[in-house]
Amino acid sequence: MRLTWSDVTPKALFMSRRQWMTGAASIAALAAASRAAQAAVEDVPNSFEDITRYNNFYEFGYDKEDPYRNAGQLTIDPWAVVIDGLVEQPGTYDLADVLAGQPTEERIYRLRCVEGWSMVIPWLGFELGHLLRRVGVQPAAKFVAFETLLRPAEMPGQRTGLLDWPYREGLRIDEAMHPLTILASGLYGEELPRQNGAPLRLVVPWKYGFKSIKSIVRITLTEEMPPTTWNMMQPREYGFYANVNPKVDHPRWSQASERRIGAGFFAPRIPTQMFNGYAEEVADLYAGMDLRVNY
Ligand code: MTE
Repeated sequence: MRLTWSDVTPKALFMSRRQWMTGAASIAALAAASRAAQAAVEDVPNSFEDITRYNNFYEFGYDKEDPYRNAGQLTIDPWAVVIDGLVEQPGTYDLADVLAGQPTEERIYRLRCVEGWSMVIPWLGFELGHLLRRVGVQPAAKFVAFETLLRPAEMPGQRTGLLDWPYREGLRIDEAMHPLTILASGLYGEELPRQNGAPLRLVVPWKYGFKSIKSIVRITLTEEMPPTTWNMMQPREYGFYANVNPKVDHPRWSQASERRIGAGFFAPRIPTQMFNGYAEEVADLYAGMDLRVNY
């Protein structure tokens, strides 16, 4: 089932944790609202705790709780994003300029990590296509490359050789312009926490989570397929496309099912869906391609 950003999630779920503390009555209301949401959709958003304490953000360490523990020190104001390459208006844009005039929406998306776990996350964001159209895409642009901030002084993981820094990702231009592809600047109705990629991160819900690059400082439109972090490190294990596909296993584990974070220790694994359940929207992008070759 396709999740939308409509009102399937009651507003009560967007209450901040501060508001959570305002009394038993509101907690009871929240619990009721949460049960209603559960009945209304099969995929219920994960708790704020799950989403912000179980993360992959190797710039802040290797363990799932390291980003929660270490990301607090990251300076996100001021923040600028370089947009360059094959665009009509290249430049260094202040975050405020990037966000200006963008229609921010709530989008509840499944996130499926290549490691075999998943979550459901209520993002706040806007379509990447809106931004790209605003800066003007030149006809020769075939790909979009993204880069994360490189700042070892504040990102302890970057003082190790864990990955080839800065973290880099890329999309084909039609994937980047697809209306499901967003830049997120918030979740649960609040500013994006640093461990989730503040102040601005990509979310591509039909691809494995590693494509959804965090804390972006550069967006470059190119003619050539750009190098990407995990693909450079292990090309046999991590392709450029990285579309969620239960039929194409990772060389070291099956991708047929996933563990929903927060579901409890005894919860059965759930079947992974083609394109993470977004096939209706995106399968056309790959018509005629062999998804075993272009994994
Ligand atoms: N972006 C950067 N810069 N560094 C990372 O280590 N990890 C990726 C992706 N984006 C990562 C990143 C991986 S593997 C996943 S699964 C998602 O972020 C996790 O996003 P979340 O922590 O917000 O759930």
